[in-house]
Amino acid sequence: MRPQPDFVHEFVRGKSERTLLLLHGTGGNERDLIPLGRELDPNASLLSPRGKVLENGMPRFFRRLAEGVFDLEDLKERTHELADFVTAASKHHEIDIKNMVAVGYSNGANIAASMLLLRPETLAAAILFRAMVPLSPETQPDLASVRVWIGAGSNDSIVPVSDTKQLAELLRGAGADVTIRFFQGGHALTPDDVDGARDWLAKSK
Ligand code: MLT
Repeated sequence: MRPQPDFVHEFVRGKSERTLLLLHGTGGNERDLIPLGRELDPNASLLSPRGKVLENGMPRFFRRLAEGVFDLEDLKERTHELADFVTAASKHHEIDIKNMVAVGYSNGANIAASMLLLRPETLAAAILFRAMVPLSPETQPDLASVRVWIGAGSNDSIVPVSDTKQLAELLRGAGADVTIRFFQGGHALTPDDVDGARDWLAKSK
């Protein structure tokens, strides 16, 4: 029997070998990023879980104590839980985990970054919109074969530019091939983010 993926999720089968793991922001759900996923890659399969933590009724992927202040124990536990889900879902839906690309926005980007640091084997690449440094890993992961694209807002009231740069350095230090782009704007996603990420993904066949 195949392991049952234990997150509420949407799965849309695509025509190519690639799967986009779509990770929504605070207050989102498993349907939110499906149109974005289709825009980024019309041929990929889409795997989109709903975060299990509720903050005032709003789904998230891990607990926080305040804006930008994370409950690190919960973050670590939830990161492993999500990575286990991705492994189980890839078997259940018969998709290749070696072609799994995380696409996260805000809280979803933060847990994607945490997966890169704690469970690097789960992802081939990641697109991180408005991510911050989620945690410092106790042991350095091996990200030598992982490509990461980071889209940041030059005027983001939640993620300072220095934090984005620190995340890029942390991932580069672990061997990842990191592209970092700053866009005019704040925490919200812009059409330029989507264009930049789509072009990068198209070159990453
Ligand atoms: C987070 O909690 O992950 C970040 O503060 C982003 C957010 O969800 O507002």
